[in-house]
Amino acid sequence: MSDDVNRQVLLAERPKAKLEESHFTRRDVPIPEPGDGEALTRTLYISLDAANRAWMSPVATYTKPVEIGGVMDGFTLAEVVRSNDPSLAPGDIVECMNGWQDYGVAPARHLHKVSPIKPLSRWLSALGVTGKTAYFGLLDIGQPKEGETVLVSAAAGAVGSFVGQIAKLKGCRAVGIAGSDDKCRWLTDELGFDAAINYKTEDMTPALRAACPDGIDVYFDNVGGPILEAALFQTNQNGRIVCCGSVSQYDTATPDPGPRGVPGLLVVKRIKMQGFIVMDFYARRQQAESDLAAWIVDGKIKVREDIIEGLENAPAALIGLLAGENTGKRMVRVAPEP
Ligand SMILES: NC(=O)c1ccc[n+]([C@@H]2O[C@H](COP(=O)([O-])OP(=O)(O)OC[C@H]3O[C@@H](n4cnc5c(N)ncnc54)[C@H](OP(=O)(O)O)[C@@H]3O)[C@@H](O)[C@H]2O)c1
Repeated sequence: MSDDVNRQVLLAERPKAKLEESHFTRRDVPIPEPGDGEALTRTLYISLDAANRAWMSPVATYTKPVEIGGVMDGFTLAEVVRSNDPSLAPGDIVECMNGWQDYGVAPARHLHKVSPIKPLSRWLSALGVTGKTAYFGLLDIGQPKEGETVLVSAAAGAVGSFVGQIAKLKGCRAVGIAGSDDKCRWLTDELGFDAAINYKTEDMTPALRAACPDGIDVYFDNVGGPILEAALFQTNQNGRIVCCGSVSQYDTATPDPGPRGVPGLLVVKRIKMQGFIVMDFYARRQQAESDLAAWIVDGKIKVREDIIEGLENAPAALIGLLAGENTGKRMVRVAPEP
């Protein structure tokens, strides 16, 4: 954090294959001044999301690509420092898109004020984009019914760890796929998943058969690639595949071709495969926030945050997230909570 300069992390070069720290550069600039109807905010936390890597490619996703030489994009939680709009006052806490820098200026209508709960970091984990992605993706797109089997990949990550826990509290069998034995143990021993598969050491097809003896009713896909294909072949008639993201395909120059079985298996087994973006559900965000908050208070959902200190460590922290270093929701603390 800085009181007199605005430190920025910029995209220096587009990664063509694996992301490296050399794809980023840093610069210090003066703290910007807010204009009419705008507010100046100080970044407290930056959310690190697997999708950040996709935003660095030249191809537009649901957002436009980060510009070369531009501040790296990112969801942030920030404190209002100065406001030229009556809707916000200094000290207010807002969700915003400051990106990877100490300070941002934006029209007040783009800043979403949140309640000052403790710790504030919950607004980037359970109550933020992460929790809401799990909530709406599973409940609205996946539509799990009591007694069904819900499989989720990247299960020990931010979104995945909430998906499995929500599936459990809806009376489903929850099965997770993750990249280490420690992560698998955390899923079953701490979060209450019924089974977990280490995709790096186990053969997916027999492992899925053993973990999902009644087949898969809902597959919440965070990874795409060969894991999606293996799950597709074991999905039951009338099953639902929730396409949330494809992290296995983001950080490579040689993405896998689409899974075999599309469209043949979808037709024969009447499987519904649907993508979504959490922002589609923005109008219903309060419903998700209030359910998630109640489940946390009741101990039905556990929250694990993986907080990396310091803006300067954001590039290494994103590279680490893509390599599976994180358990739970990874974020960067840029300034202490007020
Ligand atoms: N649709 C939406 O609106 C929306 C919103 C937010 C996030 N998402 C998506 O949700 C997914 C999870 O994102 P997140 O930000 O919560 O990240 P995360 O799950 O906390 O971290 C990513 C995890 O992916 C796993 N991974 C990396 N490479 C993999 C590979 N080749 N195969 C299988 N797993 C791999 C790693 O864990 P392992 O150790 O298990 O490999 C890593 O911890 C991403 O696909 C993201 O794009 C979608």
